[in-house]
Amino acid sequence: MRILLKMFSISRTCMRSFTHIPAPNRLSLLDCYLGCSQRAAGRWTGISSRRCLSSVEGQTVPSMLRHLTSKIKATGPITVAEYMREVLTNPVSGYYVKNDMLGAEGDFITSPEISQMFGELIGIWCVSEWMAAGKPKAFQLVELGPGRGSLTSDILRVFSQLQSALKGAAVSVHLVEVSPKLSQVQAECLAGDHTQVCVSDEEGVYRTGTTQSGLPVSWYHRVEDVPRGFSIFLAHEFFDALPIHKFQKTEKGWREIMVDIDPEAPEKLRFVVFPAPTLASTTLIPADEKREHVEVCPDSGVIVQKLANRIAVEGGAALIADYGHDGTKTDTFRGFRGHKLHDVLLAPGTADLTADVDFSYLRRMAGDEVVCMGPITQRLFLKNMGIDTRLQVLLRNCRDASTHAQLIQSYNMLINPEKMGHRFQFFSLLSHSRMVEPREEGEGAEEEKERQSAAACGWIHSSGIAVRDAELMCGKMSSGLFRYTMESSNWTCAEK
Ligand SMILES: C[S@@+](CC[C@H](N)C(=O)[O-])C[C@H]1O[C@@H](n2cnc3c(N)ncnc32)[C@H](O)[C@@H]1O
Repeated sequence: MRILLKMFSISRTCMRSFTHIPAPNRLSLLDCYLGCSQRAAGRWTGISSRRCLSSVEGQTVPSMLRHLTSKIKATGPITVAEYMREVLTNPVSGYYVKNDMLGAEGDFITSPEISQMFGELIGIWCVSEWMAAGKPKAFQLVELGPGRGSLTSDILRVFSQLQSALKGAAVSVHLVEVSPKLSQVQAECLAGDHTQVCVSDEEGVYRTGTTQSGLPVSWYHRVEDVPRGFSIFLAHEFFDALPIHKFQKTEKGWREIMVDIDPEAPEKLRFVVFPAPTLASTTLIPADEKREHVEVCPDSGVIVQKLANRIAVEGGAALIADYGHDGTKTDTFRGFRGHKLHDVLLAPGTADLTADVDFSYLRRMAGDEVVCMGPITQRLFLKNMGIDTRLQVLLRNCRDASTHAQLIQSYNMLINPEKMGHRFQFFSLLSHSRMVEPREEGEGAEEEKERQSAAACGWIHSSGIAVRDAELMCGKMSSGLFRYTMESSNWTCAEK
């Protein structure tokens, strides 16, 4: 994109001829999309989280704004993708790089922070996929953008309790995190004092440690740095934070929306429409696109292609959970600060920026190397994974009224269609070998049957998509291979 900006580097006079999109318009578009309701917004706001959280720094405004305006003065308006990348992940003053923004005292709250049930059920999905793959010896759990480490922590607790199912597996944990601040929070959550920052990150690893349950854990900046091998990849509210390009259909064809300095107020930024085609506007929009306004996140396409290729070659699966759409929505770019919607161009670096994930684009980018399942709603995924039973177990074991009330409130928050239940979607990439029909007889038939039935308690069971497994979709967390009894507050597993 830097090359592109140089190509189109233009004078300030010329910039004034760009079409300016007035802020009120932008916000009203957003309001329409959000139904004027905070509750409909993707980032979830306004619930007390289960943990106590640290504060957000608010000192980045002048330096980030100065940085952006100098950049624009030097090279001309920048793409929305470049704006988002700088604001969120600039190594010096990026929003994610400096802040711990999650939770009640931050800017938004996420499902793993709301309830342990969320991570536990994803933990079950991971074990199920590993079993369906024939229990490979090495099992890498890889999380992209782990936030405060809560999801991985809840998954590892399930792994500890399912030791009998996982016996023989060499489990390792791999975290892809751009933020030094958050990697520190994750290290404390998962490994206490048992981590070391790597002096040289030649191998791509910048921190290593041992989790509380004794598993090796490593941190990387990029997914390509994670060692090869069978991996279960998880990305919860990760793809929505990657930079998007925005395009507007005009009489002259597709044009890219850029960020410029407001000529009336040099301390302010504004959106403009680039007058000529850009490399992105000519390459990223499908010829048959029907919408008038489109957002495309090429970084997410690149990452999904990498995951698909690794799953096809080395085995594994990926579960992507985020708010999003299937190629239908238009203007979804928005900001969150202090649990409220925030103008994306105001005080850059002090608010989270996000855009809905386009699952149809991810499916296109994954190609034929893998099988794509979903998206299905968070409600359906969690219900089919057994959240109701898990809630009952936790309620039965809870001693005080306030925890009881909090459990019900968080369950409701996760699955209520009006809250997170329908806004959030689950999408997975599976290896083709995962979908093979069991052989009826001959060598390996028993093993194949075992794999197939394990599949039933994983995605196939949970998504309700694969009709040929209808008889296995009995709504019970059980399979011929092992059975989750959920009769105590712990997950138990009895191998048959
Ligand atoms: C919205 S938070 C979600 C955190 C967590 N998954 C959760 O649901 O609570 C986004 C996470 O992705 C990380 N992140 C954002 N952009 C990234 C990038 N380009 N590479 C790696 N991590 C990134 C952030 O630092 C943060 O940990």
